[in-house]
Amino acid sequence: MSPAVETRRQPVPNRITVVGNVNLDVVVAGVAALPPPGTEQIVPSIAVRPGGSAANTAVTLAHLGRETVLVGRVGEDGTARLLDAELDLPHLHTHLVRAAGESTSVTVAAEAPGHDRAFLSALGALAGMDATAVPEDVLASRFLLLSGYFLLPVLRDERAKALFSAARRAGARTALDTGWDPGDWTAATRAEVLDLLETVDVFLPNTDEIVALADRPDVSSAARFVAERSGSTVVVKCGPQGALVVSPDGSAEQCPTPQVTVQDSTGAGDAFNAGLLHRLAEGASPAEAADYGVRVAATVISRPSHDRRFAPADVLPARRDGVSA
Ligand SMILES: Nc1ncnc2c1ncn2[C@@H]1O[C@H](COP(=O)(O)OP(=O)(O)OP(=O)(O)O)[C@@H](O)[C@H]1O
Ligand SMILES: [Mg+2]
Repeated sequence: MSPAVETRRQPVPNRITVVGNVNLDVVVAGVAALPPPGTEQIVPSIAVRPGGSAANTAVTLAHLGRETVLVGRVGEDGTARLLDAELDLPHLHTHLVRAAGESTSVTVAAEAPGHDRAFLSALGALAGMDATAVPEDVLASRFLLLSGYFLLPVLRDERAKALFSAARRAGARTALDTGWDPGDWTAATRAEVLDLLETVDVFLPNTDEIVALADRPDVSSAARFVAERSGSTVVVKCGPQGALVVSPDGSAEQCPTPQVTVQDSTGAGDAFNAGLLHRLAEGASPAEAADYGVRVAATVISRPSHDRRFAPADVLPARRDGVSA
């Protein structure tokens, strides 16, 4: 290349950019069902905290000491001010677009022993979040993660592709966590996501999501199908079984998790994503990074709901026996 046309690239900042769903979580304990209309029920506790998979991942990255940019869209309301205060953490740089006249997304989670959590969510300002929420100067980073894809109805398909392509041009690798499709994975949605994955370096589904996306009952063959077709590294989150890493060449490695007593499983997948991306950004192999991901997830879910802050030194050690929990 002649000196005249040589472009001098800025070094890519050593940070991770997380784009996606930021909301307020209201977690109600001790509720298996709504009380009858007209009645009031006293519950053991109601906790209010930042939530949404993008926010959860960004907060965990910040706890790990990674410089992190969190991009989202909120309303102009007290909920947004509360989020601002709660997300004011070392290493975390928030870029939350204020949507005038709209409200901030809120999720109410009801939990009770022996019951799966039940959620009620209002998308609020997330419903209007598109790529204009993402300032150009945050694209240059080690990774750009798009999280909560199905909760961002106008940042899908071609717009998400354009975002990933712009991030790649700026020197970032790209990662995607779609979450579960509330529309239950129609053929059109599966085609949309498979297509999008061609712009994604690391795909982060759980077992239900990969099986639904590939429309194959077996997790390993579903992950292999998606990795080979898209060229992405597929890292499947397998709950107490840890994680499965499948490379585009079809090779696979299972990563067992440390055994822990789970105190609060909310955000397990988001904590895993943070640990994995943090290590990948340092140059670790996908299997090494997944090993750190399962350790970070185990660390977070074994802490009580009201005290999930941790330091890198608190991350649990690797499981040594090589056997899945
Ligand atoms: N019971 C458990 N014991 C140890 N580790 C766990 C347990 N449950 C989850 N994990 C860890 O958390 C990671 C993510 O959990 P999971 O597979 O449930 O993903 P997810 O469904 O995306 O989670 P989320 O409910 O946060 O969306 C797992 O890969 C594993 O490392
Ligand atoms: Mg998940």
